[in-house]
Amino acid sequence: MSALQDHLNEVAAYTASSKEEVEQFRLKYLSKKGILADLFAEMKNIPGDQRKAYGLQVNELKVNVEEKLQSFQSILEAAADATSGGPIDLTLPAAPLPLGSRHPITLIRNRIVSIFSRIGFTVSDGPEIEDDWHNFTALNFPENHPARDMQDTFFIEMKGGSDSIALRTHTSSVQVRVMETTKPPIRSLMPGRVYRNEAISARAHCFFHQVEGLYIDEGVTFADMKQTLLYFSREMFGAETQIRLRPSYFPFTEPSAEMDVTCEICKGKGCNVCKYTGWLEIMGCGMVDPNVLQNCGIEPEKYSGFAFGMGIERIAMLKYGVKDLRLFSENDIRFLRQFSAE
Ligand code: DAH
Repeated sequence: MSALQDHLNEVAAYTASSKEEVEQFRLKYLSKKGILADLFAEMKNIPGDQRKAYGLQVNELKVNVEEKLQSFQSILEAAADATSGGPIDLTLPAAPLPLGSRHPITLIRNRIVSIFSRIGFTVSDGPEIEDDWHNFTALNFPENHPARDMQDTFFIEMKGGSDSIALRTHTSSVQVRVMETTKPPIRSLMPGRVYRNEAISARAHCFFHQVEGLYIDEGVTFADMKQTLLYFSREMFGAETQIRLRPSYFPFTEPSAEMDVTCEICKGKGCNVCKYTGWLEIMGCGMVDPNVLQNCGIEPEKYSGFAFGMGIERIAMLKYGVKDLRLFSENDIRFLRQFSAE
């Protein structure tokens, strides 16, 4: 498959400046003994379960080669006309523009939203530049409490040293906005970009994406949370997926947990992706702390609920086998074109 990818890259990057070069390109890919003929002949040796994906990729290569040839031919013809003083044929089609594809982060976000929308979750939005109240205080991070250091924050200094403003460190800030403005029952998802003051590496970035979830109603229990998250995990990672909840701490939930799913790659047996544990951590969750409900104007005596938050890049890395977080924001078309819409 990677040889195929090399061909796709080569075709995408190919340029020709003469008729001879175009002809060489055509022969290399399309002649009877050319690369495509070989690749099609190889089809019978591909195992049955991979044949379809292989066939689709070979076809994509063929279409790309044909498009490339067509665009070169029209450019060369136009150039020939221009140099021979002949008329320029204005009816010639323009060189085709390459088609774009959806960004992998968008694909995963849409998938998460679609899974939860099937059980009645709406989508809410909030600002990326946040005040201290929505990002911290309302979420039960007391002033000067060390829990504020759990997330390295980009603060913005205001003229005159008034209220502190920050780039939101998590989408939990949108929970507060939704609770402040909506009467329960609330069932909402809050996808968006978040920022942290971290050195950029294969595993950390100064910005990334999260999806927050919030469910508030009368009589909502931990069991409701567990079942909702099990449903999500099975829709996302497959019907056999198991989940486990490990006790954790977040200021805004009590009790709090971190949720793991069984590793989709080794089916729980242990591999290098799950570091031989069979489990992958995918989100934080818990019952919304009564202090948070109170801060947002919801009566804790009457209502309860759960919240959860997950990183979209992390899920995309697991689903697509991407090993470096930086690839998602480098805009390298060779990376981006590998993800087709679902
Ligand atoms: N805000 C947390 C983070 O960025 C994730 C999170 C954990 C969100 C637990 C939640 C939750 O809503 O209940 O690390």
